[in-house]
Amino acid sequence: MTKKQRHWQDLDSSHYLHPFTDHGQLSKKGSRVFTKGKGIYIWDAEGHQILDSMSGLWCVNLGYGRTELIEAAHKQMQELPYYNSFFQCAHPPAIELGEILSNISPDGFSRVFYTGSGSEANDTVIRMVRRFWQLQDKPEKQIIIARKNAYHGSTIAAASLGGMEGMHAQGAGIPIPNIIHIAQPYWFQEGRDQDPNTFGLAIAEELEKAIDHHGIDKIAAFIAEPIQGAGGVIIPPETYWPAIQRICDDNEILLVADEVVTGFGRLGEWFGSTTYEIKPDLIAFAKGVTSGYLPLGGVLVNDKVADILIEKGGEFIHGFTYSGHPVSCAVAIANIKALAEDNVIETVKDHTAPYLAKRWQSLSDHPIVGEARIKGLVAALELCKDKKTGKRFAAEHNVGSLCRDLAIENGLVMRAVGDTMIIAPPLIITHEQIDELITKAISTLDATAAAVQRI
Ligand SMILES: Cc1ncc(COP(=O)(O)O)c(C=O)c1O
Repeated sequence: MTKKQRHWQDLDSSHYLHPFTDHGQLSKKGSRVFTKGKGIYIWDAEGHQILDSMSGLWCVNLGYGRTELIEAAHKQMQELPYYNSFFQCAHPPAIELGEILSNISPDGFSRVFYTGSGSEANDTVIRMVRRFWQLQDKPEKQIIIARKNAYHGSTIAAASLGGMEGMHAQGAGIPIPNIIHIAQPYWFQEGRDQDPNTFGLAIAEELEKAIDHHGIDKIAAFIAEPIQGAGGVIIPPETYWPAIQRICDDNEILLVADEVVTGFGRLGEWFGSTTYEIKPDLIAFAKGVTSGYLPLGGVLVNDKVADILIEKGGEFIHGFTYSGHPVSCAVAIANIKALAEDNVIETVKDHTAPYLAKRWQSLSDHPIVGEARIKGLVAALELCKDKKTGKRFAAEHNVGSLCRDLAIENGLVMRAVGDTMIIAPPLIITHEQIDELITKAISTLDATAAAVQRI
């Protein structure tokens, strides 16, 4: 280890409380310090080149080091580095981005509310849907139905929408009242005794049951990620979303798509709602809107909801200092322009995703892989002790974490969610780089299988 790396690790464990990190472990092991990124690769402080198959945290859609994004930020910082959009003020980047977002959004969306992150976007969703029903003279419509094992962010409200048991178990009054969680469409884990499409329908019916149980006059909205990301890349069976859409249409509730992961090209369309033919009322976004170069999030609001908020609502008493930050918006404009001009999303749909799918699915032949699933450029591997029955390794062996550590040593970032390994590579990944990813994934799986034998 270099002296510089050791120095950073010491300072880091002395002063820096990281998110989603066990600090006891971090101070023993020392963090891995990254210093550089280019294309789909990152470099650590010791100079190791690593293929970042997680796009940072599902966000660096255009890859690292894009000069047009850097220049857009520089130019905007020189012109107007900050001004707010409270109290009827605005600035060109936020205005222009609003128009661009409405052009690329699904039909019926012409308005955006900006936030600084995905969590704040989902907090905003809660406020907006409840305000919408209040303005419709139905203030008792308060309950938002979400799903177990969903991730919607880390603020108290967003973590309440989320169905992460570990987060709820750490106190803090999570979940807040009037949020309920129904089953997730996780076929591999929870539905293998049924055919996937039968399971998909049965899980969608949980929404209808929850509406009947609590009463339609109490339900404000249903929120879900088109594909659950942080929960382990849970790709719903084909029958799931059409049934959910029908239930939302038949009942008087709003449908909210959390597209923080699936937005901006991840599934080969601008939004995952298009991929799944979902017609949401609100879309939460963040991450890929700037390719993660600067923080920005928001809620796209369809005309049905926006018209009520505008015509009847008066002042919406909600907002953030960094709502529509001019530099973030300038970077988002450059990012969306590059995604469009370079045909990145069409290339994902027509070339990259089908190629990755072919190569990724071949990993299901590996002795410790129970399932390899993929949609667009987001994919998962289920690590299993018995691939036929899907029996897992003993939890105390933390095989997923072991596999993740071996992957990094092998020059590949893969994320572990329990014993599910997930990837979401930058959208610019080439076929040659996919071959490299798969070669590294195979050697990592071999090394994991060998290490498991020794336990
Ligand atoms: C689906 C989804 N929603 C919301 C969030 C929260 O976004 P942020 O971390 O920007 O607050 C995330 C973050 O991973 C996410 O995956």
